[in-house]
Amino acid sequence: MIQTVVAVVVAYLLGAVPVGLLVARSRGVNIRTVGSGNSGATNVQRTLGWGPGLAVAVFDILKGALAVWVARRLHLGDPAAALCGLAAVMGHNYSAFMGFRGGKGVATSFGVLLMISPLSAGAGFVVGLVTILLTRYVSAGSMIGALTVLVSALLLGRPWWETLILALLTALVFWQHRENMKRLQSGNESRLGQKVAVQN
Ligand code: G3P
Repeated sequence: MIQTVVAVVVAYLLGAVPVGLLVARSRGVNIRTVGSGNSGATNVQRTLGWGPGLAVAVFDILKGALAVWVARRLHLGDPAAALCGLAAVMGHNYSAFMGFRGGKGVATSFGVLLMISPLSAGAGFVVGLVTILLTRYVSAGSMIGALTVLVSALLLGRPWWETLILALLTALVFWQHRENMKRLQSGNESRLGQKVAVQN
């Protein structure tokens, strides 16, 4: 039990590492003050370009995958490993290093899903990517992809604890996108490829 609690705390701290903030800061940009204000890969891409954006995406995915991997190495069991994945996403979204704010958890959730539900992760990725390519709204692709993950887990009859973690991850993705939903409704959401100017 104590090992699981320690692993969950470590997973939270791993997820809390503010990769997007640090990458943008290394380029002299405060990512919280430009574009959507989000510290995720999408906002880093629209502010600093594809290289930094992809780097943030990869590291954010790795944070989620690593949290599950470490729990598995400690032989904590699959439900506890999935819980560690959820903790990493909570760390990413509510980072202690960013005043308990953070990103929207899409890339980090994807890293967790690759480890605990690769089929659902694949389904969510394909549907999310097609949505992004058709609409050029990353937020819409993220939310529809997250919903696909949950629906596929239900269709595949995954264990209850896995479906519960996936439902919580999906709910978190929607909650973190509430401002995006307002912008989508009002037609003010940025499309992929739209750059934002950085004021120096
Ligand atoms: O993964 C985050 C993405 O879905 C939306 O990012 O910066 O447009 O709010 P952003």
